Amino acid sequence: MDFSEYSIQIIHTNQSPQGAYIASPNFSQYGYCWFRDGSFIAAAMARAGNMESAEKFFRWGFQIIAGQKSRIEKLLATSNDFITHNDLLPTRYNLDGTLTSDDWPNGQSDGYGTFLWAVEKYAPQDLIDENRGLIELLSKYLIKVWRIPCYDVWEENPGGIHTSTLFSIAAGLRAAEKILHRETGWIEIMSFIEKELMECNRLKKSTLSSDVDASLIWGAVPFELFPIDNPVMVNTVKSIENRLYVNGGVKRYSTDTYFGGGSWILLSATLAQYYVRSGELEKAKIIKKWIESHFNDKGLPEQVPEYLIDSAKYPEWVELWGEIARPLLWSHANYLELLLDLEGKV
Ligand code: BGC
Repeated sequence: MDFSEYSIQIIHTNQSPQGAYIASPNFSQYGYCWFRDGSFIAAAMARAGNMESAEKFFRWGFQIIAGQKSRIEKLLATSNDFITHNDLLPTRYNLDGTLTSDDWPNGQSDGYGTFLWAVEKYAPQDLIDENRGLIELLSKYLIKVWRIPCYDVWEENPGGIHTSTLFSIAAGLRAAEKILHRETGWIEIMSFIEKELMECNRLKKSTLSSDVDASLIWGAVPFELFPIDNPVMVNTVKSIENRLYVNGGVKRYSTDTYFGGGSWILLSATLAQYYVRSGELEKAKIIKKWIESHFNDKGLPEQVPEYLIDSAKYPEWVELWGEIARPLLWSHANYLELLLDLEGKV
């Protein structure tokens, strides 16, 4: 099996005619398109040479943001004292762009930052020019809301400010700065991280937790807010290695109990990219092999239920929502990114 082509095919097959990428086509709760997953997927597709697919997603995203214009404008006119995560833009939409009616947590701001990051990096210039007004509006929105506690990238802990959420926003605002040629304040976010979200010279998960979270790697890969060899990043990755890495796979954080707390493909791929970029190729190859051992005819899962943190929780989740999502498009996207890193493609 050519895992790379297979991954691209799975992503293509599961992109809606409007451009949305479904998170997972056959998992009861993932029949939506997330700005977070979608932006990472579009970035990987573009980098792997599938520009048409990425562009379709970007157009889908801009259409949604256009539809949210009055909500954003209202928010911009409101004092931060009166804004909570309930007022933030939705994190996921139906594939046709309409609002979802599920009762899942919604207020998360990272996906819109990741969207701007992916647009600046991969969208064609004419698409960027056409949507300059919306890019301006979205960056004002992110400047306004980054201090507002919201759900984290795993849709948990709504009372905190989360480091990887801030990375996504800072990367998006830095991207907007390049497009708009004016300051967007992303440096202030990085200073906040350095002041409030570090401990023992490494990053911590959030204002609520000193634990590490594997999404902290995003500071270096893919967002490149820190150089690979920055001591803070090096120490953070060491902690992730010690606390969250087991035999090829990476956990989200040390107390994760979602499906028992298995090892996540998409995070393992990102850790492996970090290793490629830090010159630790052997470590990267072990992870690549681990990921490839988990392909089957349905593709890659979200997580692998091994070395579970709380094995009693696994059957409870299966009973509630069914088997672990497979294929998860974001897993395929990050696997593609790893392959491109290994091939030395920029
Ligand atoms: C994860 C999110 C992800 C969503 C869809 C959730 O379980 O926590 O990060 O966006 O699944 O893949």
